[in-house]
Amino acid sequence: MSEAKGADLRIDIDRLLRRLGDLAAIGAIEGTEGCARLALTDEDKAGRDLVVAEMQDLGLEITIDGIGNVVGVMAGHTDGPPVMCGSHIDTVRTGGRYDGNLGVLAGLEVIEVLKSAGVTPHRPLAVAFFTDEEGARFAPDMLGSLVYVGGMALEEALSIEGIDGAVVGPELERIGYAGPSPLPANAPYAFVELHVEQGPVLEAEGITIGAVDGVQGISWQEVTVTGQSNHAGTTPMHLRKDPGFVAAACANFVRELSLELGSPQVGTVGRLELRPNLVNVVPASATFTVDIRNTDEAILQEAERRFSEFLTSTAEAEGCTVETKELARFEPVIFDDRIIDLVETTALALGHSVKRMPSGAGHDAQMLARVCPTAMVFTPSRDGISHNPAEYTAPADLEAGANVMMQVMLQLAAEGSTNG
Ligand code: GLV
Ligand code: MN
Ligand code: MN
Repeated sequence: MSEAKGADLRIDIDRLLRRLGDLAAIGAIEGTEGCARLALTDEDKAGRDLVVAEMQDLGLEITIDGIGNVVGVMAGHTDGPPVMCGSHIDTVRTGGRYDGNLGVLAGLEVIEVLKSAGVTPHRPLAVAFFTDEEGARFAPDMLGSLVYVGGMALEEALSIEGIDGAVVGPELERIGYAGPSPLPANAPYAFVELHVEQGPVLEAEGITIGAVDGVQGISWQEVTVTGQSNHAGTTPMHLRKDPGFVAAACANFVRELSLELGSPQVGTVGRLELRPNLVNVVPASATFTVDIRNTDEAILQEAERRFSEFLTSTAEAEGCTVETKELARFEPVIFDDRIIDLVETTALALGHSVKRMPSGAGHDAQMLARVCPTAMVFTPSRDGISHNPAEYTAPADLEAGANVMMQVMLQLAAEGSTNG
């Protein structure tokens, strides 16, 4: 590999913080540092418009595809697939300002540093933001990047209905982000995603950079239990068909099962709706979600099987019926060894402590890994808190992560160049 041009370049942390602040002001959650920009809402549109305007200011060539993924490309000395970075700018309803946004805005910062220094990379560079990474409004998560790599047909994605009854296709049209760029897209040369860890490991171990070696498998389902709505005062306990009880027992089981299977198995019931949701009425139905994850596909399958058996037997004993719907199912992903090594050696060369680690959260990088060499750079999250407006990463850590990403991108972009 020839020596990368710009090895002495560094990002401007004040400019990166300014961009993070500007984006976080859109959909800001009052009294907090966080924001709410659920995918394809008006707030998401306003966030997209801001980032697109910044891409235009930086002179990037912008394309938008049929699922609303946006890619801005900086030309290199040579044509061909770009070295891409990126992430997402949609958030959960109680989102922080770093999750996803960091990877996209650090990408803009990389471009600005290179342009200011007059450095043109050998290969083109691209900054992307992918639609609906969170999956909080429209399941599955990583929807945009899944379609980008050909993992789901566009027509299927456009017909997905969200938790509020809205549908992806019409919402994309409404906010003006149903673009013409074809799908699946051409594979990048390589993909690098900078992201906050969203967990406690780096902070607890006093390490600045995570060289992410993979993403754990994700299984999401929505369960609807139907019983017999009745009077809470007059219906004897042994005569009830109570979906609220079944849902509560399932939530308890998911936790106990995860503890029994042991780390890294995790399990969450994050959404629960009882109908009619009144103090003195045995519920007619309960709808809840189950999110279970593991780095080991066989154990993840065991968890799915045991939950399913528990659900069936508990509902049956209570005289209730059950319907389940798969919302997301992705197997564990292993990133590219060569890019993981590059993240590690680059972090060390820049004087940062580094640790190879898996990701607990889902990321667009796990989809890009299907089509090109991919890895991720993690920075610490204070108290391991994320999907919460209190999410925070110290500026020095943001700076370290963005510099590592920039130098990894520059080294990849220099590959194949004869004059370095
Ligand atoms: C998605 O980002 C998830 O990990 O839930
Ligand atoms: Mn994210
Ligand atoms: Mn997230």
